[in-house]
Amino acid sequence: MIRLGIDIGGSAIKAALVNLDTGEIVSDTLRAKNNIETKPHDAAVNILRIMRKLDYSGPLGVGFPGRLVKNVLHKAPNLHPEWLNNDLTVFFEENTKSKTVVLNDADAAALAELNFGDPRIKTTTRAMFLTLGTGIGSALILNGQIWNDTEFGQLIFEGKRTMENVGAAAVKRIENLSWKQWGIRLNSVLEKYDFYFSPELFVLGGAISSSLDKFQRYLDFPEEKVIAAKLGNDAGIIGAAMATEKIV
Ligand code: BGC
Repeated sequence: MIRLGIDIGGSAIKAALVNLDTGEIVSDTLRAKNNIETKPHDAAVNILRIMRKLDYSGPLGVGFPGRLVKNVLHKAPNLHPEWLNNDLTVFFEENTKSKTVVLNDADAAALAELNFGDPRIKTTTRAMFLTLGTGIGSALILNGQIWNDTEFGQLIFEGKRTMENVGAAAVKRIENLSWKQWGIRLNSVLEKYDFYFSPELFVLGGAISSSLDKFQRYLDFPEEKVIAAKLGNDAGIIGAAMATEKIV
C-alpha cells in the first residue's frame, strides 16, 4: 500500500509517498518552507500543492514537532501559535478532504525505525529513541512497543535550560560549536537520561546522526550503547505514512 507521509518541522514541511510494506520512499521528497511565522492555513495550502504534484488524494499521516493530546497540539515551541488548541485531524480533513492521522514527529520516526531500522531496536528491553534537530524529540521503545507522547527534550537540564536547549542539533549551528564542544554537551544530556531512565540502548535520529563518527568519541558510553538511527531524516515521513494504517 502507498500512503503519503508528511513531516512538519520547524524549518520545512517534507512529504513523500511511502510503500508501507517495505518502508521505502517511492516518490521525490517534496518540501515547502515552514517556520514559526507560517500559519496553519498557509501550511495547508502547501500540503495541497504537494498532494497535487504527487497526484495523491488518499489518507494523510502528519507528524508534528510538539505535544499532542487527542489530536490537539498543546505545546510546539517551533511552530506558529495558531497551530495550538485546534483539533488538527479536523483541520486537515476540512482543508484537504483526506482522512488524516496526526502524531508527534519523534513517535513517527520511532515507528519507522522500529519496523525498518536497526534490528537491535526490536530486541532491546529498553531503548530510548531521540531525534536531534531543531529540538530533541523522544520515544521509549520497551520490548518492541513504543511508549508515545514523551517529551524528554523539555525536561530541565539545569536552571531554565531544557535538555534540547543544551543538546539539540540546532544548538551546534546556532552557537557555532565544534564537534567536540557539541559532543560534550550531548554527552551531558545523555548522562542525565541514562541516570533517570537506564536505557540499554540510545538510538539517535535526525540528520546529524549520520555524523555519529564525528562525535561518538566524546560520548562516555560503550559504542554499542549509542547507535545512529538507520533511516535518518526520512524516518519522520515514513512513520507518519505508516500511522495511516490506523485509518480504515
Ligand atoms: C518538541 C517535541 C518534538 C521535538 C522534535 C521538541 O521541541 O517539544 O514534541 O518531538 O521538538 O521535533
